[in-house]
Amino acid sequence: MTGLVIAVDGPAAAGKGTLARRLATELGLPYLDTGLLYRATGRRVLDAAGDPRDPAVAAAAARALTPADLARSDLRGPAADMAASAVAAIPAVRAALLDWQRDFGRRHGAVLDGRDIGTVVFPEAPVKLFVTASPAERARRRWLELQAKGTAAELSVVAAELAARDAQDRQRATAPLKPAADAAVLDTTELDAEAAYATALALVRQRL
Ligand code: C5P
Repeated sequence: MTGLVIAVDGPAAAGKGTLARRLATELGLPYLDTGLLYRATGRRVLDAAGDPRDPAVAAAAARALTPADLARSDLRGPAADMAASAVAAIPAVRAALLDWQRDFGRRHGAVLDGRDIGTVVFPEAPVKLFVTASPAERARRRWLELQAKGTAAELSVVAAELAARDAQDRQRATAPLKPAADAAVLDTTELDAEAAYATALALVRQRL
C-alpha cells in the first residue's frame, strides 16, 4: 500500500458517506463512494431493460462501466437502490469491480465507503470504521433527505425499503454487510452530524 487507506462500512443511510467525505478532506486523501459502482451497474442493466438479478447481464454491465456512468444524475432513488443491491449480490459483479477499487486506494491512499471495504477490498486497512444507527433513525434521516430534495415519500415506505435492502446486503453469500473483526463500531443513533464526525475523527486518530 502506498498511502493510508481508511475503510468506512455500514448499512444504508447510516451517514457513512458524509463522514467518509469529511474524513478524506481533513486527512487530504482521495474519497471513493463504492456504492456508486454498484448503482451505475444496476442502472446500466435497467436501461437495457435487463434483470439486475441475471448474473451474466449484470457482470457484463459491471465490466462495461465508464467514468461517465458514475457521474449520472439518476443513480439514487428506490429503483436504483434495489437494482444496486441486486447486482451487488452477484459474485461476478463484485469480482469485476474489485481491482478497480483496490487500484484507486493503492494509488495515493484513500477513504472508501461501502459494505465490504474492511472485510474484502482492503482487509489490511489500518483504520476501519463500521458506522451504524438504528433502523428507525436511518429511515428518518433518509426520509428527511428526500423531503429536502422535494421528493414526497411515506416514512413507512422508506423504512421498508431500507430494511429490504439491508437484509439483502446482510444475507448474501459473497461479501455480506458485516463489521470486520478489527473495525471500530460507531453507532450514530444518538449523535448529530457534528458529534458523529468528531467521534469518527477521534477513532481514526487513535488508530494512526
Ligand atoms: O452505499 P450505497 O447505499 O450507495 O450502496 C448501494 C448498494 O450497493 C448497497 O445496498 C449494496 O448492495 C451495494 N454495495 C456493496 N458493496 C459496497 C458498496 C455498495 O455491495 N462496497
